[in-house]
Amino acid sequence: MTDAISLKLTHIVQDYPSPDGGLPNRVIDDVSLAFDGPGINMLLGPSGCGKSTLLRMMGGVRPNDVVTPTAGDIEINGVRCDEAHDDVITVFQRYSNRPDLSVFENVAFPFRFALWKKRVERAEWTKRVHATIDAVGLGDKEKLLPSQLSGGQNQRVALARALVLQPRVLLMDEPFAALDAQTRGDMQELLINLHRQQPCLIVFVTHDVTEAMMLGDRVLVMSAQPGRIADDFTIEEKQPRSSLWLRSTAGVAMQQRILAQLQQTAGHGRVTVSV
Ligand SMILES: Nc1ncnc2c1ncn2[C@@H]1O[C@H](COP(=O)(O)OP(=O)(O)OP(=O)(O)O)[C@@H](O)[C@H]1O
Ligand SMILES: [Mg+2]
Repeated sequence: MTDAISLKLTHIVQDYPSPDGGLPNRVIDDVSLAFDGPGINMLLGPSGCGKSTLLRMMGGVRPNDVVTPTAGDIEINGVRCDEAHDDVITVFQRYSNRPDLSVFENVAFPFRFALWKKRVERAEWTKRVHATIDAVGLGDKEKLLPSQLSGGQNQRVALARALVLQPRVLLMDEPFAALDAQTRGDMQELLINLHRQQPCLIVFVTHDVTEAMMLGDRVLVMSAQPGRIADDFTIEEKQPRSSLWLRSTAGVAMQQRILAQLQQTAGHGRVTVSV
């Protein structure tokens, strides 16, 4: 959990077949990145620039129809990784809770699988499931079904299902994008608190500049297709960050730096600022 962890991408290229049978479509063009140790790394970029493609690769999720990556290597703790890795867990925007299972059963779901059953004893995982549900603020809702919860509460269940495995790498693909502004703010605060209690290496995809600045220890800005890393910087401001900081000279300068980079390269796509 708090052990050293590194994730390294070297010269990643991704081509997808063109729908009309023409030349392949280059979506990612020579991306090299290294993440070391616990921290929240924000991957920000316009729609279609290849953020999900890159994140899926880090999670070892390969589409059936295409070879990924077309070129380049992904290493976890120095070992080349071509498929799903036990230490890497992904949370998606669509939270995919099972509608027929209670909150408790949804969070306990991974322990139905042999791998996790073998790794964690029943008594231990039962304790962990209760504690994680408490940590995401749903202690009084363990017996409810997803249909009896709000969107934000459902996303808390999905987050708990990932955290209960104590992943060393947590990949998050626009997990809060479908939530209203107030709930999104609450979830961001929750994530900061949970990360403090259970540090891991997070790569968090967003198209929201404000979200990147509120959460990130490091911000990576991607250019529009083909996706490249256009900017990469750290944010020293301590957590929790306030909207006052966002509006400070330093906050505004950082926001302008990000927007200028995106405007240079975007051309199309959706990037938002939510303050
Ligand atoms: N399996 C696939 N086959 C062919 N093309 C694909 C495939 N997956 C993604 N693409 C294309 O690759 C490009 C990048 O897609 P990706 O989903 O990675 O972008 P994104 O940055 O996550 O966008 P968004 O912000 O809208 O989620 C898009 O043009 C998409 O159509
Ligand atoms: Mg995406």
